[in-house]
Amino acid sequence: MSVMELTVAEELYPRVANVIPKVEWATMAEDVEAIMRLKKERNAVILAHNYMTPEIFHGISDITGDSLALARKATEVDADVIVLAGVHFMAETAKLLNPSKTVLIPDLRSGCSLAESITAEDVRALKAANPGVPVVTYVNTSAAVKAESDICCTSGNAEKIIRSLGVDKVIMIPDQYLAANIANRTGVEVIVHPGACEVHERFTPRDIQQIREDYSDDVTVIVHPECPPAVVAEADFAGSTAQMVDYVREEDPKRVALITECSMSDNIAQLFPNVEFIRPCNMCPHMKRNTLGSIRHALETMTNQVEVDPDIAERATRAITRMLEVK
Ligand code: 13P
Ligand code: SF4
Repeated sequence: MSVMELTVAEELYPRVANVIPKVEWATMAEDVEAIMRLKKERNAVILAHNYMTPEIFHGISDITGDSLALARKATEVDADVIVLAGVHFMAETAKLLNPSKTVLIPDLRSGCSLAESITAEDVRALKAANPGVPVVTYVNTSAAVKAESDICCTSGNAEKIIRSLGVDKVIMIPDQYLAANIANRTGVEVIVHPGACEVHERFTPRDIQQIREDYSDDVTVIVHPECPPAVVAEADFAGSTAQMVDYVREEDPKRVALITECSMSDNIAQLFPNVEFIRPCNMCPHMKRNTLGSIRHALETMTNQVEVDPDIAERATRAITRMLEVK
């Protein structure tokens, strides 16, 4: 490895310096150099979800954010190739919004327990049992499920989307906890599907009570709305991963417990070095299939290319676009 090849990695180091020791970054330098070179050669951009590890999130990515931000920003990309460092439904959404671009997912096994909990057939059955009730579908679903839906939502805009419909009852799928949390906030009745995020469903109210005891209640507790309502009830704030960042920026708390996926605390700690983060995290195995190695391999081989059946694509895109139009 020549000194020249290491220069790009050295230049990038300040982006991760608060959370990755220099000696560890040095072990990543070869992959980082290769990825940065391949991005230029392929005219590619890397979109990374907030749950990527810091070397991906801060180190090599061009666009970062929560599910909503990634969907919105995917519509503004002018590169030829999008590498989606996240999970499959995110890559599918990026493809639906950019049908002419090549969208790569580094590892096809990057699924999601929510997306896997429901099929298009399940949605058709819910609609048949509840005629006329609008279907609001979380973006954490396949394109085939979105295609059966009236409108999509993310955890960042779910409340706004539900209120925009002006109805007193919705089918809100597939996250039973997100749906229950939004019902509590809006008073809208929700018909649910028994899906859950395998990361957030594991947190309990006792976890939060324990943290408050351990820190004499001198701690701000922020949870993701995919957590059960009893967990949300114990928190100071519930919001999407981007809303968590905004909350810390605006409120400037001294000490924060982030009740979400593990990498979130690492990424946010890089941004707010003066805030102490308590990290009672659960790991998402699907998100963690994204590594520097798998991203490098995707760019080297131009795999795995995401495609969506054109019949499904048109209807799924309509549900996503309706969501993006709600201001
Ligand atoms: P947001 O980033 O939209 O909050 O979603 C969290 C999540 O679990 C995505 O898989
Ligand atoms: Fe799915 Fe939960 Fe993993 Fe997000 S964190 S990809 S919702 S399993």
